[in-house]
Amino acid sequence: MDAYQNQMKVLSHNLLLIILETLDVTQEELNWAISTHDAQAVLQLNSYPSCPNPSQAIGLAPHTDSLLLTLLNQSGVSGLEIFVEGLGWSQVQPIEDAFVVNVGDLLHIFSNAKFPVLTHRAMVNQSKHRISVAYFHGPPVESKVAPSSKFQKPCFKSLTVKEYLILKAKQFSNALSLIRK
Ligand SMILES: *[C@@H]1O[C@H](CO)[C@@H](O)[C@H](O)[C@H]1NC(C)=O
Ligand SMILES: *[C@@H]1O[C@H](CO)[C@@H](O)[C@H](O)[C@H]1NC(C)=O
Repeated sequence: MDAYQNQMKVLSHNLLLIILETLDVTQEELNWAISTHDAQAVLQLNSYPSCPNPSQAIGLAPHTDSLLLTLLNQSGVSGLEIFVEGLGWSQVQPIEDAFVVNVGDLLHIFSNAKFPVLTHRAMVNQSKHRISVAYFHGPPVESKVAPSSKFQKPCFKSLTVKEYLILKAKQFSNALSLIRK
């Protein structure tokens, strides 16, 4: 677990560097996003036993991830679905030796919605037991989150990561719209 988590930490740092380079943010903001000190690094293990009637069961209810980035290993069994406007729910097929990278709410806010979150859910499988390993990466809870200073028209208010997580715990998918300017 420790070794996996450390590898995920390095990978999410590198991904964030690539993503933030495209936004041309300040060095201070970059440090915030990739800070290792007090950063949140959460590993979540999910087990979805096979289910005779998948359409009658909930795997993981629709949601967006709260932190900056999520790295997900679906371990070869499909079940992850994303909601695409105008199309509905669409399956994300597992690709061998690849991770699914999800943008979280904090990156949505920081990028002023340039990197938008996607609502997703997990379905159970009729014949296969599905295991997934999700790594969530985020800045320290006491730090502030706001759209990068490079955006002249920030669409979101500034608040601490902790305040946002408390709001999310109460308001779920409404949290982002509640802090819209
Ligand atoms: C169950 O898993 C198989 C193999 O990954 C896949 O083809 C099928 O679409 C899955 N069913 C659901 C409901 O995701
Ligand atoms: C995902 O997990 C499976 C084990 O369930 C492993 O074989 C595979 O290498 C992992 N994929 C990545 C990209 O690490």
